[in-house]
Amino acid sequence: MLSATDNELMTHVGAGTPMGNLMREYWIPFLLSWEIEADGSPERVRLLGEDLVAFRDSSGKPGLIAENCPHRGASLYFGRNENGGLACIYHGWKFDVSGRCVEMPSEPPTSNFHEKVAGLSYPLVEKGGVIWAYMGRESVPPPLPGLEWLDVPEDQVIASKRVQYSNWVQAMEGDLDQSHLSFTHRWLKPNPNSIRTGVDVIREKDSHPHFEVLDTDYGVLVGCSREAGDGQKYWRLSQHMMPFHTITPPYGDNPTRNWRAWVPIDDHNVFVIGLTFHPNRAFTDKERTRLESSANVWTISPENRAPVTSAPFGRWRPALTVENDFHQDRELQKTGIYSGIAEFWAQDAAPQLTMGTIYNRTREHLGTSDGGIIAVRRRLLGAAKKFASDGVTPPEISHPEVYQIRADALFLQPDESWVARTADRRKVNVAVNPDSPQ
Ligand code: FES
Ligand SMILES: [Fe+2]
Repeated sequence: MLSATDNELMTHVGAGTPMGNLMREYWIPFLLSWEIEADGSPERVRLLGEDLVAFRDSSGKPGLIAENCPHRGASLYFGRNENGGLACIYHGWKFDVSGRCVEMPSEPPTSNFHEKVAGLSYPLVEKGGVIWAYMGRESVPPPLPGLEWLDVPEDQVIASKRVQYSNWVQAMEGDLDQSHLSFTHRWLKPNPNSIRTGVDVIREKDSHPHFEVLDTDYGVLVGCSREAGDGQKYWRLSQHMMPFHTITPPYGDNPTRNWRAWVPIDDHNVFVIGLTFHPNRAFTDKERTRLESSANVWTISPENRAPVTSAPFGRWRPALTVENDFHQDRELQKTGIYSGIAEFWAQDAAPQLTMGTIYNRTREHLGTSDGGIIAVRRRLLGAAKKFASDGVTPPEISHPEVYQIRADALFLQPDESWVARTADRRKVNVAVNPDSPQ
């Protein structure tokens, strides 16, 4: 349970709010590189409640500027993207990727008025096939977080996005909540195509996992153990990295790995940008086709995508919604899948959206299975309050190396320490982890 004040503080991200101010100090991933082309159509973008337009100029440089033209406010989304800038279709004022007004054809050629007009723009970095924005107050942005996949060749990475019509915190909380896997995603019969059949059996037999959390220099490490038979414990370790990054544990040997970020569009909407990557080999065409077309937390299957629109993130919207009950099938619920919902992310979205777009956490009753999300809330609230009071950015922002971590999954004897046994396995480190990028 949270107080109404803390709930508002944690969930509201507009300009000037404590969480909004804090979040703007971190790099924000928001666009896949292929979504904008040199001199191509701009993209509407909405981040932390701000309406923006992204475009790629003639030289290939990406830009992110305020959607409304500094002249009289027309949308620059309609602009002409050519010859090194985006020109407003109302009076032709043209802006480069840094927001500078480079042409003002509606004023006399002798005028230097254009030198006095600059639109809002945010610095961008493009790495790993993703474009990142810095919306913070520093004139020199911090380094990007040192996430493992940023150094992995692009043919080893498959990325996607998904819009969810809820506040960012309740969406991210679902990703750190290992308890729900025994229910929300459960198959009632073994799924013969799953590589995690053994794990599914463990989850079914032990539906009340034991949780332990560790506050770390990057965020929160959530350890979750279940009885695995023969006296062993099966541990799954999820990572939360400030402010909105999550990694969940892999399955199998020499596994693919994952990452996602839960980026607020505004207080009532979030998109998750995520990827699957293999640390040391390219995906085969067959694997790529399968991974690109199957639903997961951050990927909507092709048949369940809403028609593409030019709204912000308009190519990543789901056709399954509260209005159509996420196509829940009551027969399937009796015979096949616990939730009765076939699409993976929709199994999460159904409970998360029906909580209300910003869940009223003064009404909840947290149990032992909620240890992970309690710790993450404490971390977020603590950081936002501290930043509001002393104005000092959290240390992880200037220490990208603390983000060089992995999630983990392993069997342990009851007397073994999960923290000690996984200390090296949780590092992105070639010396101890041979499947790290080389
Ligand atoms: S409103 Fe954009 S040039 Fe006038
Ligand atoms: Fe889930």
